[in-house]
Amino acid sequence: MTLTITNIKRPNSDTTESVTLENGVIKGWNLPAALTAEGETIDGQGGTVAPALIELHAHLREPGQTEKEDLASGLAAAAAGGYGTVVCMPNTVPVIDDPAIVRTLIQKANGLGFARLHPAAALTKGQNGEALAELGYLKDAGAVMFTDDGRTNENARVLRLGLEYAGSLLDSAGKGMVVSVHAEDASLRADGVMNEGPVSEALGLPGNPAAAEAARVARDLEILAGLHAQGSKAHLHIQHLSTARALELVRGAKVRGLSVTCEVCPHHLTLTDEALRGFDAMYKVAPPLRTQRDADALLEGLKDGTVDCIATDHAPHTRAEKERDLLDAPSGIAYIELAFPLMYTRFGQTLGLDKLLDLMTAGPARVMGWPTPALEAGAPGDLVVLDLETEREVKPAEFRTKAKFTPWAGEMLKGWPLLTVVAGQVAYRQE
Ligand code: DOR
Repeated sequence: MTLTITNIKRPNSDTTESVTLENGVIKGWNLPAALTAEGETIDGQGGTVAPALIELHAHLREPGQTEKEDLASGLAAAAAGGYGTVVCMPNTVPVIDDPAIVRTLIQKANGLGFARLHPAAALTKGQNGEALAELGYLKDAGAVMFTDDGRTNENARVLRLGLEYAGSLLDSAGKGMVVSVHAEDASLRADGVMNEGPVSEALGLPGNPAAAEAARVARDLEILAGLHAQGSKAHLHIQHLSTARALELVRGAKVRGLSVTCEVCPHHLTLTDEALRGFDAMYKVAPPLRTQRDADALLEGLKDGTVDCIATDHAPHTRAEKERDLLDAPSGIAYIELAFPLMYTRFGQTLGLDKLLDLMTAGPARVMGWPTPALEAGAPGDLVVLDLETEREVKPAEFRTKAKFTPWAGEMLKGWPLLTVVAGQVAYRQE
């Protein structure tokens, strides 16, 4: 099957080109018509072509919570957002802690034709934080990362064992498996439902202090450093970093040469605890929306390379759940479909297109030890064509995710995907 996309430009180029994909890979650029006439041709409408985006943090809710999301809705939403690859989180019902579940999810996703799925598996059985899951078997089944995300790893010794064990499961380049952590100290977070500060005080809501994140990051970095001192290849990835102080700790750890990476979410860059003033649980997320000072620091972290990648933590819940009051509603914001347009519209100028794309393609690939996504012949046929010019309104009713509501509803954004291609096949096409 041959697919040619005409009328596209590479990033920061004014030259209109065409690319041809065959057997799941890029066959070549600007091939003579005789070589492309057989297959399908799609007009790229003058859009900018890039490797398809990679999401390291999405909650697709399968198995067990398909009223919130399922593989079909979540991976279709991802493809519509320009993503060709998604790592899904294991805090499902049951928890993804069994090789059979990993295999089933991969098989099911392969048949859908949307984004590629790489499941993360639980670090501990049932995400109970106490007994390690069967990490070797989970890896063999296709799990690419271990995490108890959704929960926090309170037992430091168990996390240490998990990091050590995962660090002994090496890929062909000698890199250990990634353990990613939701870094919040549960006892400091306590029953906090939003960032602790003047806004939580004014609203009379229990606060979750920045120290809950920073203290946990400090602990986990010390555990990692201790393992490295013993020659371990453990790799720690810190999820959804939200505070200036925790970022500073990661910066220091990188200077020390630790094998640590971190991600930042667009919601922590674009929203602050001020958003909670309307008592709307749509803005309840863990870790919580912080202050403008934190958001500014995170943006600096993106610029200076402390932050390795952008992840969305796409966390769909039903509207009924999110309409509960702030104390009862579950945490999570779902917006995988608009993450790139949001980032491009808000920070495209500040970061530059190349850096932004790096943070959403090569950056996540580096975290995982995957090959650098490329546009050259022979590279995987995973591409996105972006419309960097046209402003379009965010219309949640048209979302593919089951969570058809978002903090950015009604906003005008540009950078919308026109076309997403995965393994040489169309996974999304703008209507
Ligand atoms: O806001 C969040 N929602 N943070 C998490 O860690 C879990 C996630 C979810 O599963 O809904």
